Amino acid sequence: MTDLHPRLQVLQSKLAASPLTRINDPELTDRQLELWIKRDDLLHPIISGNKWRKLKYILNHALHCGADSVVSMGGAYSNHLHALAYTGKALGLKTIGYIRGERPAQLNATLHDLLDWGMELRFVTRSDYRQLRDYQDHDSLPKFRSGQFWLPEGGATELALQGVAELVDEIEIDFDILAVACGTGTTLAGLLASPLTQTALGVAALKGGDFLIDDVEQLLSKQGMTSQADWRILVDYHFGGFAKTTPALLAFMQDFQQRHGIELEPIYTGKLLFAIYDLIRQDYFPAGQRIVAIHTGGLQGKRN
Ligand SMILES: Cc1ncc(COP(=O)(O)O)c(C=O)c1O
Repeated sequence: MTDLHPRLQVLQSKLAASPLTRINDPELTDRQLELWIKRDDLLHPIISGNKWRKLKYILNHALHCGADSVVSMGGAYSNHLHALAYTGKALGLKTIGYIRGERPAQLNATLHDLLDWGMELRFVTRSDYRQLRDYQDHDSLPKFRSGQFWLPEGGATELALQGVAELVDEIEIDFDILAVACGTGTTLAGLLASPLTQTALGVAALKGGDFLIDDVEQLLSKQGMTSQADWRILVDYHFGGFAKTTPALLAFMQDFQQRHGIELEPIYTGKLLFAIYDLIRQDYFPAGQRIVAIHTGGLQGKRN
């Protein structure tokens, strides 16, 4: 058990519950399947979804290391930077965000929030941005000064796993499949870092997602872990690539939202639920199985 820094305890006490919502749908009952959504999107209006899970022990480590600032990177719509800027402000940590691409003439809603919460924005060229991906350790950034804590893109560090693993314990029903969308694969790795023995299904949100298998394995091995779960990553539900959509995806999301009252976004959770329904229609899941899909939040990105 890792001691949680008092400032994080205060923040944690402000979080809401993340209930399980059952999806009532004749398509499921016809096949004797159950689908439940783990509503991490309801945890907090800003630090929702997997963001709190991932940042919790990363920032705990930063605070225990005596960090005064956290530096990270992301795109102009980054859910990761959005959650980091807010959390940094709440914890009294300065935050700096390297943003991919030129500063736009008009800032979008995400960038406005970052500035409002005191994040220093540094716009970098795409090639400089790519180079930043080489730095993994929290003190590896060039010109690193003590007190600074570097956090790789998407919070993809082994420190993120413990917080995500806690989610699995919260699921109070028996289930067969736990499904989540993957960007960096860190959230999936966190699920696998728990005592999960069922099947874990990752749905890659980006094209060419086969590399995610190695990344997940590396994150686990850095923590000296191997998973007991049977896990796989589906790489064919990217809809053209990261942040790409198709009319079929958008129509599916709209229909799902209308019928079940749960908002999705097209980058991660829309693709996840589309994949699950597609697999259901292909009879991928044997009758009698209970599927839990994690709503990892990210709805803020839709405002832009
Ligand atoms: C809403 C949402 N869902 C899922 C993911 C994927 O998480 P990971 O990068 O840990 O695979 C992200 C990205 O961090 C996200 O913002």
